[in-house]
Amino acid sequence: MVYHGPIQRDKMAHIDMRSDTVTQPTRAMRDAMANAEVGDDVYGDDPTVNSLQERAAQLLGKEAGLFVASGTQSNLVALLSHCQRGDELLVGDCFHIHQYEAGGASVLGGVMMGALETDHRGVIQPSDVAAAIKPDDLHCPISRLLCLENTVYGHVHDAEHINSLASVAKARELLVHLDGARLMNAAVKLGVPARIIVKAVDSVSLCLSKGLGTPAGSVLVGSKPFIERARRIRKLVGGGMRQVGIIAAAGLHALDYHIQRLAVDHTNALRLADQLNRIGKVEVNEGQVETNMVFMKLPDGSAEPLRKYLSERGILLGGGERNIRLVTHLDIDADAVDQLAIEINNFFG
Ligand SMILES: Cc1ncc(COP(=O)(O)O)c(C=O)c1O
Repeated sequence: MVYHGPIQRDKMAHIDMRSDTVTQPTRAMRDAMANAEVGDDVYGDDPTVNSLQERAAQLLGKEAGLFVASGTQSNLVALLSHCQRGDELLVGDCFHIHQYEAGGASVLGGVMMGALETDHRGVIQPSDVAAAIKPDDLHCPISRLLCLENTVYGHVHDAEHINSLASVAKARELLVHLDGARLMNAAVKLGVPARIIVKAVDSVSLCLSKGLGTPAGSVLVGSKPFIERARRIRKLVGGGMRQVGIIAAAGLHALDYHIQRLAVDHTNALRLADQLNRIGKVEVNEGQVETNMVFMKLPDGSAEPLRKYLSERGILLGGGERNIRLVTHLDIDADAVDQLAIEINNFFG
């Protein structure tokens, strides 16, 4: 295993729990980047990008892949490749595509978003998908695409659930896209190859810069014709990059060495939840910590003072007033978790 652990720093000075996007590239990843063979990727000439695209497609059981700048760009390119103006996509009401991507598919593609109710684990009911698909009626938009997500706020959805939603969509001739920003967390947690989890869906976006720890980049995978359309759309949204193998090399390194270690992040999240629950004033979703996210409920009015107290001690928490997200990742080890719990205990003590 080439994972060299977090870059050595004074832990007191920097425990960043805001997201798994905050990781520093490891020394081994930086070496891989420095030594990458590169070419102009808009011409399809970058061997490292090509090999990352092939690896990701293989990992997810699809024909082809496309390296893009971010998870948002990957989803946007996917939605614009699947849908035309006047089409509708159905998406979980709390999903990233619906909440946090600036409405890109609607703004740039004229695609309407229909939000489906989700429960506390981000689960959509198949019957709700069936009910939301519009009839073939000139008054209605054309329901074209169902958008799923996995993990959703750290919750894992298994292949059976994804298959049940996809089969309702397919029966009505909808396509299915899955935002798998943290799909590998789900695969590691379930102990099931990722390609099995996404077998029933047409396209998948996998982020490399979250739990997998690269500085940037996502890979979109799907059929060859879909990826050809996506390549054109990527250019259209300004996402054609040149000697980008230098970043793709980090992605290849992450696929080699950072997938199985996600289990460490999951164990650390459980460790954190357990310790926080011992602090009387803090309530944690302990039974619901499935991967690398912990949500902490605090007494009214204490979030901002706690955030300030911790930041003075080099510890950063996510935003929000009552339900604060804590995310474990490559640069958080068991000592950092313990240190955080001690500081929160001191604050309330
Ligand atoms: C589920 C999910 N999808 C997509 C994204 C977008 O990724 P990016 O920030 O790389 O655009 C995020 C980012 O946090 C996410 O959590």
